[in-house]
Amino acid sequence: MRRWIRRLLVVAGVLFVFVLLGALASHRDNLEGPSAKPLPGPTLRASGKANDILIGTAVDDGALRNEPGYRTDLAAQFSVITPENAMKWDALEPERGKLQWAAADRAVDFASDRRIAVRGHTLVWHSQVPAWIADGKLPAAELRQVMLDHISRTMRRYKGRVKTWDVVNEVIGDDGKLRPSVWSDALGSTFIFDAFAAARKADPDARLAINEIGGESIGPKSDTLLRVVKRLKARGLVDEVGFQSHFNLDGDPAGVPDTMKANMERFAAAGVDVAITEFDVSLKEPASDDQLAQQAGVYAELATTCRAVPRCRSITVWGFTDRHSWIPESSPGYGSATLLDDELKPKPAFLAFSRALRAGG
Ligand code: XIL
Repeated sequence: MRRWIRRLLVVAGVLFVFVLLGALASHRDNLEGPSAKPLPGPTLRASGKANDILIGTAVDDGALRNEPGYRTDLAAQFSVITPENAMKWDALEPERGKLQWAAADRAVDFASDRRIAVRGHTLVWHSQVPAWIADGKLPAAELRQVMLDHISRTMRRYKGRVKTWDVVNEVIGDDGKLRPSVWSDALGSTFIFDAFAAARKADPDARLAINEIGGESIGPKSDTLLRVVKRLKARGLVDEVGFQSHFNLDGDPAGVPDTMKANMERFAAAGVDVAITEFDVSLKEPASDDQLAQQAGVYAELATTCRAVPRCRSITVWGFTDRHSWIPESSPGYGSATLLDDELKPKPAFLAFSRALRAGG
């Protein structure tokens, strides 16, 4: 081979190795995420503590595993976590009898090691149900038994380590009627009461919650929810009502609904605690400075609303960084819904939320 061809091959080879190394490094950076930036002011958990409010976030298992910066902020800022997907039934038992605890254990271990509380989410839901249940082929009696076994097995595993459980999730439709689901279709509304009874039995020390989406304002859905809660409460089966609080700026409602405080108060009057369980404020992309400022206002207003209701015990955000938020996937065209940006830098919402949590406290 001619010398110049050999040289050319060597140079090309060296270049190739460099490009490969560069690609690997950037892939790793991407996987490991940005490092944690210093966040202004006291931590959210400290600000919440001043008023006896736990501050929580949903936790993404991939980020928990791979991103040190994410873990740093998580450990520093929050007093409670909710595994975002790891405790859902399709994650725990994708095939009947084959249990996959690793991701759920990881979240609980992370929290226990740092004296962070865990909200278990969620035992019975119409969504993220494994196919062997969702296909609707199990006879009603068997379906009921499968549900009861799932509740007791899951709760017993985390006894003493998961303090509060979302026993049922989103069981009421927007029309105020029971939401159609694999559970209600086969078992009627009794599945709700059976689920709570099984949960109470499985871990008598756990706090039991009913969690709902779009029930923040006074209306048909929250009216039904209140009736269900009163019936559960009469049997000593419920301790808390979770209001998910997925808000935006242009929908109905834009921001915190006017009746949210009064709504939470009527649940508190029924003898249960209330909690904000999945708070986020999605913006139309690309988000303008004006929208970010409005979003900050909504974050502050919800903190103020919770503080104004003595039985409002916790505010959990559904992800704390735009890197890991369900919004872009679930609502295409929307995003920027959380407190920190993709690089873990604080957005106006972070400052406003943090201030509102401790103002005057
Ligand atoms: C969402 C998760 O954030 C997504 O990652 C997943 O793909 C779908 O579920 N109400 C709930 C949460 O109770 O469990 C949902 O979480 C968001 C709406």
